[in-house]
Amino acid sequence: MEHIRTALQKAREQQGRPWVEEVLPPPLHAHQIEGDALWSRLPGRRADPVLAGRKRVVTVGRSDPSHTAFDILRTKVLQALRQNKWTSIAITSPTPGCGKTIVGLNLAFSLEHQKDCRTVLVDLDLRRPQVAKTLNMSGPRPLESFLRGEKRIERAFERYGDNLAIAANDRPVRFAAELLQSPETVGILKDMARRLRPDVVIFDLPPMLANDDVMAFVPNVDCAILVVAAEATTMNEADLCERELSQKTNVLGIVLNKCRYMPDKYGY
Ligand SMILES: Nc1ncnc2c1ncn2[C@@H]1O[C@H](COP(=O)(O)OP(=O)(O)OP(=O)(O)O)[C@@H](O)[C@H]1O
Ligand SMILES: [Mg+2]
Repeated sequence: MEHIRTALQKAREQQGRPWVEEVLPPPLHAHQIEGDALWSRLPGRRADPVLAGRKRVVTVGRSDPSHTAFDILRTKVLQALRQNKWTSIAITSPTPGCGKTIVGLNLAFSLEHQKDCRTVLVDLDLRRPQVAKTLNMSGPRPLESFLRGEKRIERAFERYGDNLAIAANDRPVRFAAELLQSPETVGILKDMARRLRPDVVIFDLPPMLANDDVMAFVPNVDCAILVVAAEATTMNEADLCERELSQKTNVLGIVLNKCRYMPDKYGY
């Protein structure tokens, strides 16, 4: 008798309830958020054009005439990427100090002005990370935990404008070679690209001749830019690095940086 009474009670309670109940999807887990939704969750930052300009990142403010050289580089890079359906670019140089970070950041901010294009820049120079310092970013930004899969994309990347995301790093990584060469790291970076869906991914890498980090990593990218420094890089170094790179990936081009003589024969 008791169970009939309970059933009757239940039936009475249900009277007047709607026949069709709203069916809601289960809440998204952080690792399932992608595309626009993920971009909108990245913390927004603003690069100061004056401070950036002092560090030679001239494409933020675009008042220094040298920014046009990077806009030309941007156009050439975009054309090559679109023609070949490539997205990822490694930036390296034969030896330290040729200007990889400056070229990478200038290219990234030049691309940021291109509204139909989403760009991601990752500081993978794990022994000597310089992106955070060059952009005067304060506060802790350890990238290692992201590369080990312990930190979410929205904790590692910051958004500049609507369409540039930067993953900086404020400290050297102890076992940099192992981390950069590990399949897990490559998997994390592929997952990042799948979810952020950028048109361009720029990896700021270490110099090539210091160790084998770059050669081990570049098979994972679509193409590479070799930055050489006028009056510092020798022809032999440039030639050797270009040949070695081309055995592992597509060489998009060589950027001659720190050139004191800038031809301006057309008056532009
Ligand atoms: N075109 C340029 N003209 C003058 N100085 C430059 C130019 N490009 C870069 N520099 C300066 O050279 C130094 C090294 O530049 P940057 O950090 O970009 O080089 P890098 O190749 O990334 O170095 P590292 O190998 O240490 O990562 C910086 O002080 C930078 O301001
Ligand atoms: Mg650098």
